[in-house]
Amino acid sequence: MVDASVRKRKQAVATQVPAAGSTKADQSALNKKTAGTVRLTPILSLLLVALGLLLFQQPQLAQRLFDVVTSITSGDAPLPGTGQGVGVQIEADIEKRDAVVEAFKHAWLAYERDAMGADEYHPIGHRGSNLTAAGGIGYTVIDSMDTMLIMGLDEEYQRARKWVENKLDFDQDANFNTFETTIRVLGGLLSAYNLTGDALYLEKAVDLGDRILPAFNTPSGLPTSMINLGKREGVMNPDTPDLVSTAEAATLQLELRYLSWLTDNEEYWEKAEKVMRVIKDARLATGLASIYLSKNDGRYALSAIRLGSRGDSYYEYLLKQYIQTNLTEPVYRTMYDDAMESIDKHLIRQSEQAKLVYTAELIPQHSHSGEVIWRLAPKQDHLVCFLGGSLMLGATLTGATTHPVSIPPHASQLTREGKRDWINGVELIRTCMKTHDTQTGLAPEIVHFRIPTDGLEGSIMPNDWYIKGAKPGAPAPYDARYILRPETVESLFVAFRLTGDQRYRDYGWSIFQAIEKYCKIESGGYASVLNVDKVPVEHEDKMETFLMSETLKYLYLLFEDDKTLPLSKYVFNTEAHPFPIFNPTIRTGFS
Ligand SMILES: *[C@@H]1O[C@H](CO)[C@@H](O)[C@H](O)[C@H]1NC(C)=O
Ligand SMILES: *[C@@H]1O[C@H](CO)[C@@H](O)[C@H](O)[C@H]1NC(C)=O
Ligand SMILES: *[C@@H]1O[C@H](CO)[C@@H](O)[C@H](O)[C@H]1NC(C)=O
Repeated sequence: MVDASVRKRKQAVATQVPAAGSTKADQSALNKKTAGTVRLTPILSLLLVALGLLLFQQPQLAQRLFDVVTSITSGDAPLPGTGQGVGVQIEADIEKRDAVVEAFKHAWLAYERDAMGADEYHPIGHRGSNLTAAGGIGYTVIDSMDTMLIMGLDEEYQRARKWVENKLDFDQDANFNTFETTIRVLGGLLSAYNLTGDALYLEKAVDLGDRILPAFNTPSGLPTSMINLGKREGVMNPDTPDLVSTAEAATLQLELRYLSWLTDNEEYWEKAEKVMRVIKDARLATGLASIYLSKNDGRYALSAIRLGSRGDSYYEYLLKQYIQTNLTEPVYRTMYDDAMESIDKHLIRQSEQAKLVYTAELIPQHSHSGEVIWRLAPKQDHLVCFLGGSLMLGATLTGATTHPVSIPPHASQLTREGKRDWINGVELIRTCMKTHDTQTGLAPEIVHFRIPTDGLEGSIMPNDWYIKGAKPGAPAPYDARYILRPETVESLFVAFRLTGDQRYRDYGWSIFQAIEKYCKIESGGYASVLNVDKVPVEHEDKMETFLMSETLKYLYLLFEDDKTLPLSKYVFNTEAHPFPIFNPTIRTGFS
């Protein structure tokens, strides 16, 4: 039996003591300045008279001064991160876009040649492998199909479709990760259906959806971490038999809601939504989510709080559920706003010197007296890099005073929270780009930021961030790898669509070139790099399916015009499969 959860969200070490805890993270209190009484001294009066005379004689100066003052007070100063892109229409950069298509073909054709139908691909060994011994479930094929459709690769697409029609079979007596199967396979089928209207995909999606449903038959309604697709039985991970990963439970909703909408079968939606109700009821005092929930009572288990693995897409899907339902379900907006407020308060930090904005993690520990204390760890997973774009997108929707906002938005169109999230988003993307300052230009899997108590010599660690455990001459630590992850380019795509600022395309192009230079395998395909800070590189013989479903799709869309998959009509699932936005006919059963 294979636990597939390690494949996308890294398995966390689990030593959990179920209990409710409150965080001791410092809460930055708002310093409200009280206005004092103004007493004009004679000197000040004289100055005012002089200023009045000057402005009387120089009316243009008066106008300029007036403009500055009103723009500050009305909050209409340009937002950071918006560059020159005022009122932009986004045109394709055809040359760069087509270079991304060539990269996709380099990946796909090698897979097709060596491993067609296998779940996973090993480009150096020229072979495929399956998640379980029972047989494949189309992991790579289905994850890649909508990218082919979007890129216009018709011949490749037709061959993939033929495989789905003739070879795909979900009747496999083996355990598959509930979350990964949903986001990659069900998600891929649903977006292929949307892009083609081909009934084959809906039929396959219904078959898979029905096999996934038994995962929700638990006392709390939270899904089991695995599902036996052949036996139609939920199965818990033996390492954590009572625990459900928060992100995994709360990242099935876009898929199941869309499946309900297409089939008029409410069951998928009811099961997925029950999870949201359970999570809302479990709310911790801080408004943040621990990475584990108890399968039995639906409460949070005492476990880390982070935006990286096992936390990430819970936050992502709060916003995306609000978007998918065409902004008609206020409960998701409330939950999202609550979570973003908490993230700003408890997790967002700035590095010592360069003032890079990053998100820290909260780790629960027991003090000598047995009380729970929360330690703030300055560690950020590459997975967190989705958050920059997500915060910017959220700012234009839940943080906007008008709908739709302009591109780029004006400060006057955003609420106080909208501005806060926008700025945090812009800054997080800047930080994620800084983590690409390595020998290869690729970002590591995990970075740590310097803090005064880390005991590191400033002279040997000139940067604000570092790869923990990396030593010259020693084997590279796990943190040092790049496994073709999409999160930074995902944020670049969203930020570019919202601003038209060329800077985001330039960043994306530099990442693409680094992938071409260091991950590309001559004979075909792309592989992970074991240490982003060492050249020549050493590869790991694996091409993750999210290279073709996410990384190359978001890069393509970054250089494509904005009429392809407009953000006003589509929402992307966490595996970059686009779903339509619709007005749901079934309303939420809780608030
Ligand atoms: C993987 O599964 C597919 C479909 O069941 C099968 O055709 C293929 O031979 C398997 N590949 C390997 C390497 O086991
Ligand atoms: C796919 O989504 C788009 C955007 O909402 C919609 O216009 C189209 O009708 C959908 N296609 C199908 C086959 O449902
Ligand atoms: C979303 O809601 C707006 C009104 O707020 C409406 O004009 C639009 O047609 C809706 N979109 C869909 C896809 O139903």
